[in-house]
Amino acid sequence: MLKASDADAQKRILKLRTEITRLRELYHIKNDPSVTDDVYDSLTRELRELENRYPEYRITDDPIKRVAGRALDAFVKVTHASRMLSLNDIFSVAELEVWAERMNKLLGRQTISYFAELKFDGLAVTLNYDNGRLVTAATRGDGFVGEDVTQNVSMVPDVPVVLEAPFPKKIEVRGEIVMSKKTLFALNKIQEREGKPLFANTRNAAAGGIRQLDPETSRSRKLNFFAYDIASISDDFGRTIRRHSDKHRLLASLGFPMSNLEEKCATLADIEKHISKIEKARPSLPFGTDGVVIAVDDLGMQDELGVVGKAPRYAVAFKYPAEKATTQVLDITVQVGRTGVLTPLAHFKPTLVAGSTVSKSTLHNMDQIERLDIRIGDTVVIQKAGDVIPEVVEVLAGLRTGHEKKFAMPKKCPECGGEIEKRSTGGKLEKSAQAGISQEDQSVAFYCTNAQCPARNIRGMEHFVKALDIYEVGPKILERLKDEGLITDAADLFMLTEADLSGLERFGEKSAKNIIENLELKKNPPLDRFIVSLGILHVGEETARDLAKHFSTLENIIKASNNTLPRENTTAISNFEAIENIGPLVAGSIVSWFAEKHNRDFVQKLLDNGVVPEKFVAPKGDKLEGKIFVLTGTLPTLSRDDVKKMILAHGGKVAGSVSKNTDYIVAGESAGSKLAEAEKLGVHVLDETGFLKLLK
Ligand code: IVH
Repeated sequence: MLKASDADAQKRILKLRTEITRLRELYHIKNDPSVTDDVYDSLTRELRELENRYPEYRITDDPIKRVAGRALDAFVKVTHASRMLSLNDIFSVAELEVWAERMNKLLGRQTISYFAELKFDGLAVTLNYDNGRLVTAATRGDGFVGEDVTQNVSMVPDVPVVLEAPFPKKIEVRGEIVMSKKTLFALNKIQEREGKPLFANTRNAAAGGIRQLDPETSRSRKLNFFAYDIASISDDFGRTIRRHSDKHRLLASLGFPMSNLEEKCATLADIEKHISKIEKARPSLPFGTDGVVIAVDDLGMQDELGVVGKAPRYAVAFKYPAEKATTQVLDITVQVGRTGVLTPLAHFKPTLVAGSTVSKSTLHNMDQIERLDIRIGDTVVIQKAGDVIPEVVEVLAGLRTGHEKKFAMPKKCPECGGEIEKRSTGGKLEKSAQAGISQEDQSVAFYCTNAQCPARNIRGMEHFVKALDIYEVGPKILERLKDEGLITDAADLFMLTEADLSGLERFGEKSAKNIIENLELKKNPPLDRFIVSLGILHVGEETARDLAKHFSTLENIIKASNNTLPRENTTAISNFEAIENIGPLVAGSIVSWFAEKHNRDFVQKLLDNGVVPEKFVAPKGDKLEGKIFVLTGTLPTLSRDDVKKMILAHGGKVAGSVSKNTDYIVAGESAGSKLAEAEKLGVHVLDETGFLKLLK
């Protein structure tokens, strides 16, 4: 286990500074998308925290105190008449409250009103107009000196080359060059076709479209522009402008495109409302946004509050929860699954990603560890998109100290000491067949070969109760029952009596009754669920349904698996291979499962204990035959399980992620990145009502 000591802090600070500087160079100067804002923010936050704890290691020329970017040599440099500032970020409502409280304190008794607007995710530019004509356009650069990009910016149709009258004699407008999600998608399609690298996000594509030397490229990128501020204005108009909101009104009247997601807010509660409104709208907005800019509306108050360092006091950027963050790998342990497969598990320094704390994640297999070269002690980027399980996506090798430790698979099973075997797995065959997800490469996995391994046994039981929806018996109860010697396998559950359970310490009579009643109710599962519950390798819900449909009864399946020629199982295997969607790997797995005596005994024991699957009945309808659905977010009345069952009952399929084969996405409240992805791909989006209509 990795232990951090105070002595390591200084080293870490130095490493972080170097890495942050490197990332800034890449990102802002070379438009390299290899790092996202979230990662950068996460590292700077760590550096800031460390510097607060160890002020003695602070330096004056700290990279995080400078505005990112530097003018490219290829462009003519322009000195900005007034500095292009940056904004301080806040990440929660609590931080917003702290900021507003400070505004109150600094401004005394005055009533403050605010203005909240979208934070656009593109390239900041400043536009100078003389007598209503665009004379110069420049990038931010380091905030003082930027690049002259007038030619390129003139190619953006949204940027007025001539202002609508009446206009001021002079005005300097600030805003953001952006690219719509749709345009990015189309652009990347072309890049792909031409074998060129893809753009990671709309911001890189927008910035790259301006910060290059050919105006034709700027035009072809189909960029957009939104104005958000007036840096200076001649007196003829200046007098009428008292508030930030006045600026927005004037900008609109001069012909600048403005976002309609902006609002004057009288109270903190109004700001919070606006923030959540945008959060909901975010996935379906045509343009990317990573937050909301909140400013004190009154310009007199803004002056009073002033600027500290590179950012004004009077405005902040509220950033939505990061989907990526950095953390350190404290340890890598191994988990034993129901099939005996050993899965490495990374333990992290707990960190906040997309609104929840992440302290561990699976590393899947050795291939993954080797591909990413993850070592104990490494700083890694973890990602958690919407309701997706967190995963490590990258190692920041630049932050290594040399003390990182490579992980090796144990030679014996960590749970039972059993022999470990290396096997090649066939990839996720079932998944690829069901959802058109590209088939994974063959990969190797390590297995505990001991069929009696207690960890395998308990995982198998967990799988069983989940497959049969026996909600009352969770992993903790299973463990307890096993420890008490009441069960040795899942079939034993059905022999339990209320007396067995209520005799246990800290086990209420009511819950005992509940469990027994529930088990009784689950004794006649649909055949496909029964097959799933057996936990046959490669046989998931989809294959189980195919089997149930084909054979209709358990007896038929057993017969088919037993129909064996001496020595070779070829006949049995071909009985299964003949079924649509079932290939040799899955067929072989089914036959070898039934070939094992203890598995056959287990099935017999279930039957003896009264667990008898129902004969398979064809789905209610085929309205959704062949249609692939993806579910995301929370629906008003139906649970995810309900929707899934309804889809399956009507012949449709449910996939875990959106691809070009997805027919519909059913999206509810707090839908995450899946919805955005679906919209990008033009997949039909349904709400609950829309979904129910489909079944009528
Ligand atoms: S500043 C008084 N507003 O954020 C408040 N900046 O400016 C002035 N940015 O990199 C408003 N959207 O490119 C402001 N609506 C917005 C913005 C915005 C994006 C970016 C800008 C710059 C940074 C700080």
